Amino acid sequence: MIRDIQEVLFDEAKLNQIVSRLGAQITEDYRGKDLLLVGILKGANVFMADLMRKIDLHVQLDFMAVSSYGMSTESSGVVRILKDLDHGVENKHVLIIEDIVDSGLTLHYLMDYLAARGALSIAACTLLDKPDRRKVDVAIDYVGSPIPDVFIVGYGIDYAEKYRNLPYIASLKPEVYAK
Ligand code: IMP
Ligand code: MG
Repeated sequence: MIRDIQEVLFDEAKLNQIVSRLGAQITEDYRGKDLLLVGILKGANVFMADLMRKIDLHVQLDFMAVSSYGMSTESSGVVRILKDLDHGVENKHVLIIEDIVDSGLTLHYLMDYLAARGALSIAACTLLDKPDRRKVDVAIDYVGSPIPDVFIVGYGIDYAEKYRNLPYIASLKPEVYAK
């Protein structure tokens, strides 16, 4: 697996620093409120596990799994829900936890979806953001780091379901995609 890596962009120390900063900010902003973290599977899994341990508040967890409908309908922003929330979000302060925001279509859809289900407030936190790739305007409240338009893997994020278990964020050698 390690032979496929081109460049490490965020090592474990850097990720820890980013996640600590986000956790402190969220702790500050949600003090006195009941916070529900909604992790978007599978990519946000590792990030969320680290982030929640940096939040010094009572938090509840829930998860959703989503997938885009495929190339032809991608631009419509229609997202298929593979796993819905276990519990309702009525009267809850919801913080969506994402791995990367790219076109913004997934996050845009999820914010509308949760608003329609009666959340008290909805905010979003993403580890990485590719602002150059945005197709739809979406407000992100907490951004770990912006990145250029480079395909990355690791720390929960995959290429063809692989590399999620790398402890850092890295780019892949071009020949990996040619396989
Ligand atoms: P979008 O914002 O709706 O276009 O989709 C964001 C999702 O695309 C993320 O949650 C990832 O699953 C996937 N994605 C975007 N960029 C990358 C990348 O560089 N590597 C791996 N997955 C990515
Ligand atoms: Mg993915």
